[in-house]
Order: sequence, then C-alpha cells, then structure tokens
Amino acid sequence: MSEIRPEAVGVSIENLSLSFGDTEVLRGVDLTIEPGEFFTFLGPSGSGKSTLLRAIAGFGPMPGGRILIGADDVTGEPPWTRNVGMVFQSYALWPHMTVRKNVAFGLEERKIMAKEIKARVDEALILVGLLDLAERRPSQLSGGQQQRVALARTIVVEPRILLLDEPLSNLDANLRIQMRRDILDLQRKLKLTTIFVTHDQEEANTTSDRIAVLDQGIIQQVGSPMQLYDEPVNRFVADFLGTANLLDGPLETADGTHLFQSDKDRTVMFRPQDLTIQSLPGDAGPDTALLLGRVEHREFLGSLIRYNVAVGGHTLTVDDSHSAGRQAFSPGDDVALVLDTRNIRILTG
Ligand SMILES: Nc1ncnc2c1ncn2[C@@H]1O[C@H](COP(=O)(O)OP(=O)(O)OP(=O)(O)O)[C@@H](O)[C@H]1O
Ligand SMILES: [Mg+2]
Repeated sequence: MSEIRPEAVGVSIENLSLSFGDTEVLRGVDLTIEPGEFFTFLGPSGSGKSTLLRAIAGFGPMPGGRILIGADDVTGEPPWTRNVGMVFQSYALWPHMTVRKNVAFGLEERKIMAKEIKARVDEALILVGLLDLAERRPSQLSGGQQQRVALARTIVVEPRILLLDEPLSNLDANLRIQMRRDILDLQRKLKLTTIFVTHDQEEANTTSDRIAVLDQGIIQQVGSPMQLYDEPVNRFVADFLGTANLLDGPLETADGTHLFQSDKDRTVMFRPQDLTIQSLPGDAGPDTALLLGRVEHREFLGSLIRYNVAVGGHTLTVDDSHSAGRQAFSPGDDVALVLDTRNIRILTG
C-alpha cells in the first residue's frame, strides 16, 4: 500500500429497487454513506442486506435507481471497474497457495512489479498481524487467521470502499468480539469507507458509526446505534434493536388512571430499564407512574435480572441490575413497578 492513501469516498444510493424475476427484493432504497464512515446494514435473514451490498459491488441483476461511488455513477458498470473490495462470509481463500500468495494474487493479476508486490503484501500482512504466518497455507490457520487473510487480500489492492458481508459469522463468540475490534481498528487506520452486513445487533452497535435497519427490502431507519435504540421510529426497529415493551392498549396505574388510550395506529414503547421493580407499596417520584403487578418469570443474566411482570392485561419486561446481596423477586411475588414516563415513546409505524 502506498504511504499516502487516496481520499476516502462516500457512496450514494438513490431510489434503488431490485428484483429477482417477479420478486422485488429491494424497494426505494435511499442512502448516503459518508467518506470514511463505518456503515452497517442490519436486518433479519432475507431482508435484502446481501443483495444491497452486492448491488454496490456490481453483482446481481441490474437495479433501478442509481448507485454512486464518490462522484462516479457506477450503476450498470461491471464489478471489476468499480474498485471496491469485498470480503465474503466464506473467505474463499485458495487452499493450495500460501498466505503470501493468497494476498499477492490480486496484485499479480494487475501486472505490478514484483518488488512493489512484496512491499504491499508485507504491509497488508503487518496491518492484519499475519506477517509471521506468511508461508503457511489456509488449512494451517485458525478461522480468525483465515479471516485476516481474506481481509489482507482485499485491502492490498487499495479499494475505494470496503464491503464486508457477515465476515465474522463462522467464528466462535470470543473470536468474533476480537475480530470486530480488529476490523474497526484497521478501518480507522486506513480511513476506508466500509459497509458491513450483519444480522447481529450487538455486532452492529459496537462497530458502526451509523446503521441502516432493513426489513423486507425497505430501509426502516438510519441512525447511530444509540439513536436507533433510544428513538426508534417504528415497532420493527424498537423490537429488532434490543428488548422493548410495546403496548397497544391502555396501562392502568396504581391509582386507577389509564396512562394511555387504545389507538390502533399507535404503539406505546418503553425499555425494560425504564421500569424499576420494588416491594409493595412502592415509592414513585416525579416524572414516574406507579404500577402494580405480579412477577411471572425471572431470568438471571449475570449483571442484571430480567423479570416478566403481569400488569393488568399486559406482561411487561423489567430489567433490574444485579449485585451480590441485592434482593431478587420470585415468580408469584406482588410487586410495584415505577415507570419513568419521560422515556415513553409513541410509535406510529
Ligand atoms: N439469486 C437469487 N434469486 C432469487 N432470489 C434471491 C436471490 N438472492 C436472494 N434472493 C432473495 O432475495 C431476498 C433477500 O436476500 P438477501 O440474500 O439479500 O438477504 P439477507 O438480508 O442477506 O439475508 P441473510 O441474513 O440470510 O444473509 C431473499 O428473499 C432471497 O430469497
Ligand atoms: Mg446475506
């Protein structure tokens, strides 16, 4: 890699739609990804994440709308002219080649001088921490190391943008955490605009500058991880990012008043940590509402205990922090819940 990298470029997606035969898989996608951003497509299986990523790389059926990389309209251009680097879930390394050969391959195809290839491959291997293992074959590497080879092979050709499709999904839990940090470090070091695909909200939250949440080929919301969690625009986003209490009907408080009315177009939402669980009679302060309920279920999760509490016709999820010696409630206990009413959101979608 050259010492001075080219300026990071952004990506603009304008009213993109894409169908496989009669099946419309992406609908009216509008997105602007900023230069140097770590941007994630997050959504359930089949929501269109890979299709959208592949469309940016130039794979798949011709879409409607436009895709721009930097100032270049690349819609309809073949993949090899776009200068994007893509890492696939199955690393697709060549088993008979050493690590060094695997990484060098893309440069050799470009007829670059051997000396420069060696320097650039060394630099890429140093970046991913694999220089010591350069002479091994993929079968002699761990899953995480193979993942690093795939990454080195992609960045060595200095792509304008980096596309990662679930690159961590076949690693074990601990390695995933390590690798997602390493990928982020590398991305920051290179200031390389990166689009990451995952269905794992924790992975998205811990890495991304911004996330686009997809469902059924439609972007539901774009925002920073905290924005999406704190200010979801609809039920889908509220539910997909973390646990949410989503109520359609009124909630009765301890003094018999109804906190909200039924409205078929509106959903009331608050998070489990917006409720505090207490012994009766309970102690509500300003900006709170006192609710009465009975514990139905308890899950011990280490740092917190998650309760399901029946309140009127609803079952509310309540998170209570846990430390040794702190009182825990049991199924069947009558309890008071204090709801922080400032954090109630009304969703219309
Ligand atoms: N080559 C294809 N031909 C027909 N339909 C396809 C093709 N590729 C994907 N699809 C369909 O398009 C939809 C979106 O698929 P896509 O692979 O983009 O989902 P995804 O969000 O990446 O899911 P996953 O998390 O499972 O990887 C799915 O309904 C899928 O069945
Ligand atoms: Mg996919």
